Amino acid sequence: MKLTRDSKIKDLYKTAIGQDVVDKILMQMNKSDKWITNPLVSNLKISALNLYIKDEGFLDALLDLINSETELGVQEGGTLTKQWWKEVVFYQIYPRSFKDSNGDGLGDLQGIISKLDYLKELGIGGLWLSPIFKSPMKDNGYDISDYYEVNPEMGTMDDLKELIDQAHKRDIRVIMDLVVNHTSDEHPWFQEALHDPNSDKRDYYFFRKKEETNNWVSFFFESAWRYFKEQDIYALKLFAKEQIDLNWDNPKVRDEVVKIINFYGDLGIDGLRLDVINYISKKEGLPQGNQWVGDLMEFTGIEHYFYGPHLNEYLAEINSRGFAPNHMFSIGETPGIGIQLGKLLSADYRKQLDLLFTFDHLETPGHVRFDEYLYDLNFYKEHMMKVLGSNSLHDWTSLFFENHDNPRMISKVNPDPMVHDVLGKALNVILLTLQGTPFIYQGQEAGFINQEFTEEDLRDVESINKLKVSDMKTVLAGTRDHARTTMKWSDEGGFSESEGWIKSQHESVASIESQLEDSMSVLSFTKQLISFRNNTDDLIYAPIQFIHPKTRNYFAYKRGDYFIEINLSDKDINRPKSNDVLGLLLSNYKGQVLGSLRPYEANIYRIL
Ligand code: NOJ
Repeated sequence: MKLTRDSKIKDLYKTAIGQDVVDKILMQMNKSDKWITNPLVSNLKISALNLYIKDEGFLDALLDLINSETELGVQEGGTLTKQWWKEVVFYQIYPRSFKDSNGDGLGDLQGIISKLDYLKELGIGGLWLSPIFKSPMKDNGYDISDYYEVNPEMGTMDDLKELIDQAHKRDIRVIMDLVVNHTSDEHPWFQEALHDPNSDKRDYYFFRKKEETNNWVSFFFESAWRYFKEQDIYALKLFAKEQIDLNWDNPKVRDEVVKIINFYGDLGIDGLRLDVINYISKKEGLPQGNQWVGDLMEFTGIEHYFYGPHLNEYLAEINSRGFAPNHMFSIGETPGIGIQLGKLLSADYRKQLDLLFTFDHLETPGHVRFDEYLYDLNFYKEHMMKVLGSNSLHDWTSLFFENHDNPRMISKVNPDPMVHDVLGKALNVILLTLQGTPFIYQGQEAGFINQEFTEEDLRDVESINKLKVSDMKTVLAGTRDHARTTMKWSDEGGFSESEGWIKSQHESVASIESQLEDSMSVLSFTKQLISFRNNTDDLIYAPIQFIHPKTRNYFAYKRGDYFIEINLSDKDINRPKSNDVLGLLLSNYKGQVLGSLRPYEANIYRIL
């Protein structure tokens, strides 16, 4: 049934897109969903929303989007299928900052190979490498100029083969980052397309004359259109000006993508993480973005491509022609996708993507990454109860707090050095015991934190652009460089023999080497946790049951024979009584205090 302005608000909330979009808007406005689900509001006509949102075009944009997806991502019954990627603990490597083997200050593949034993000892079963392809590095490899070559600063194809081989010998799977929403402007396809309007590459991208461009805004705070003076033509680019969007409506582009997937399948890669993959289908005609949505989401035009008209179809195509025949795992990075739409993209029976990285848990309501604020873990608890509570046997969730695009979680929650260790350990307890596949970002196993940067220290294109439109305080709150500091392997640094391309991890955090020797360190604790998870089937497949879900600051759940509880605050809290007899197995504190939990205390028990 198509919705119109006369349909009820409650009908809107029953559709996948309606629910996700409204939830996102409410979250940005810092309003609870009761605002829309209470009977007074839910029985109103959709047109009544204009009382609150004084923008005529908004309702049309919303209805258009909602009517484009009438399915709901729910299929009851079935069975839970076991998969290797549900069982392993993944570790994300940002290659440029991980380990330099040849002394040029830039991390490389041989550096990663030299640390495989460390990763094995940590208990890691899967590696995700951020991009290692040939690239002018305008966005550190997320701007690829050759999909079949390794970036010379990182090594060669032979190094990559050796890395895959050495990882597999240690029973570690390898997934790579594939960026195919856009290519670098130095990619030969783009060069040919730009310089020869008659080339068949012209239609690989979106070239437009000035009057055909629109008001879309790029994610790096500029117009989404780059002007090429010599040719007097514009090209669409949703990210940096050197990252030009590919036109997936052209079947030749999809053939190219399938070819790349098959190539890496043949090479022995176990899977791919697909960068901003939900942006690949843009609405025909590239219409103007709605200003109200644009102001709210910061990015004008987003409603026309975050869940575009052919997204499901294109994902199914690369799955059937690429991933499935090679038995490769796929995880899509899908910014802006909420719970319901997420199911439509990744439920197993849909045969599109295996897993998603969504981001709604990363900022608390009313906040964006560049706001300076303290993250309340109670929001994470509520959000995850909603996500995991709505999963059917067909759905699976990726678990992560950090990646190369976000500040360090310890710093976001509570930068007080007094709680550093207990908090770092508590976050890793949550990550490794909830139901889903955990992704540890390099350094998180050892409690890495944000760094202090001056303007000159900044390296990231996003931060540098952001600094043009806001102050340093704002940039520091959200800069992606916090995550990209070089690994602190030893007390001297241990990343490279020369100076690294970016600052190292904060000096107050103990190095990997010294934490390995300290049985009480965050790293030693995380190692124990991973080993426990790897050897405990219940922590992987047992359903999750939340206990005392409404008690603030208290996060507790059962996984089969295990009971996990965490104090989400920096204060002592009362420990709710449990009906079970519990035997303590792992804790971030020594001993227990009867009836209470200390700041960020996290305990794992066996139910006796
Ligand atoms: C998402 C990646 O994670 C980010 O690092 C990159 O800048 C954008 N996609 C553009 O590729």
